[in-house]
Amino acid sequence: MSASYILAIDQGTTSTRAMIFDQKGKIVEKSQQEFQQIYPKSGWVEHDPADIWESTKSVMSAALQQSSLKAENIAGIGITNQRETTMIWDRETGEPVYNAIVWQCRRTTDICAELKDRGLEDIFQQKTGLLLDPYFSGTKVKWILDNIEGVRERAENGELVFGTVDSWLIWRLSGGKEHVTDYTNASRTLMYNIHELEWDEDLLEILDIPASLLPEVQESSSIFARTSPQNFFGYEKPIAGIAGDQHSATFAQACYKKGMIKSTYGTGAFMLMNTGADSYISENGLLTTIGWGLEGEINYCLEGSIFNAGSAVQWLSDELELLSDPADSEYFAQKVDDTDGVYIVPAFTGLGAPQWEPRARGTVVGVSRGTTRNHLIRATLEAVGYQSQDLLEAMYDDTGIECREIRVDGGAASNGFLLQFLADIADTTVQRPVNTETTAAGAAYLAGLAVNLWSDKEEIRGMRRVDKEVHTGDRSSPQGGAYFWLEKSYEIDPGLG
Ligand code: G3P
Repeated sequence: MSASYILAIDQGTTSTRAMIFDQKGKIVEKSQQEFQQIYPKSGWVEHDPADIWESTKSVMSAALQQSSLKAENIAGIGITNQRETTMIWDRETGEPVYNAIVWQCRRTTDICAELKDRGLEDIFQQKTGLLLDPYFSGTKVKWILDNIEGVRERAENGELVFGTVDSWLIWRLSGGKEHVTDYTNASRTLMYNIHELEWDEDLLEILDIPASLLPEVQESSSIFARTSPQNFFGYEKPIAGIAGDQHSATFAQACYKKGMIKSTYGTGAFMLMNTGADSYISENGLLTTIGWGLEGEINYCLEGSIFNAGSAVQWLSDELELLSDPADSEYFAQKVDDTDGVYIVPAFTGLGAPQWEPRARGTVVGVSRGTTRNHLIRATLEAVGYQSQDLLEAMYDDTGIECREIRVDGGAASNGFLLQFLADIADTTVQRPVNTETTAAGAAYLAGLAVNLWSDKEEIRGMRRVDKEVHTGDRSSPQGGAYFWLEKSYEIDPGLG
């Protein structure tokens, strides 16, 4: 068996996955491992960098073992990752100076407010395309330097390095040889000038961050490093594709033309519109980000980031115990014709785009004596739709480009009610691919292009297959309910139904 497979690592917020893709772009094996979420204080979220690395090693090994493949059959490795999550470690020993501060962590709210009060948001937005929100890495790096004893001094002596999750994994896989990242991950740090394609000295000065901490930045499809045999089953294999998870999904959804949109519905929801070579600076609360860098060209995107989408349905199930399985929300939402005036804003960790209000919290309004579980479930799913619609309107206002189609993926994209609601309120077509593992696929494609397993984007586009397409006003159920629901017997506390 020749080396004609790609191993994609998808290091996400709650789990790490490894998938092996064959030359036809088909997943031949996968493995997944959840890891610990650390909440030291209300609103703070951390990961142990050792967990990130150990879970990566274990899923790579499990995926290879379960398949009939060996590491020698791997032509290249792609990495896609939770973005913005911030780590600093020792250049010599690899020892982290603190836990990874996760993108969701709100601890730098005051730092952001102070920078805003000094009138600095505009310079950050113009240079990085981002806003002053605790979401991004820059203020998290500053927090570690300012709050963990001895770290600033060691950073100024050049002893330490900063990285997002991709950098950490490359550093580990290469046996500590390479300190690199790609354009997409750099574009989420609040320190990278997305127009000049360099770390920005002015912003580093404002944030008081030494430049020696920063990784080298490369195109998303290029050779970043070779694995050290010790850390990759005895082989030196090229790490050839890197992209933040949302960028990776956009690439896998083949949104290659200006105006094409994908939306991923996971814990949060992330909608990206390809804006080609144009980097629109939003006036409507969207982010400008690098979609990918490929063959010497930079492709920009506008992004709307919603912090809570699938997590809101999870909340109905875990905390309110209205569902035994979030997937059943589709069934219950359709048992009522509307929400009877109930609206839910799932701002559990503040609001992202387009409001950017880190101190906001969730709310439920319009509850009456006749409100049932079904109304609350429906209102939660509708909230995800309304938030998406807000992003589409902002995208239209910024670009003048009307949305014709949204390519959806992520766990909640299997919810037919949600897709139909979205098609109806946004008056657009909603399309779901057969392979909804788009984040891993994007990284695999970027790596495969760099090692010549595939020749160009056209070949990648040809591998994408459509599973479902929903249009405005589609109705297939005789009850006028929705849409992909196939009657099944459902057993859940009958008293509640
Ligand atoms: O920006 C955060 C995003 O990259 C996290 O994605 O899928 O790990 O929740 P996910």
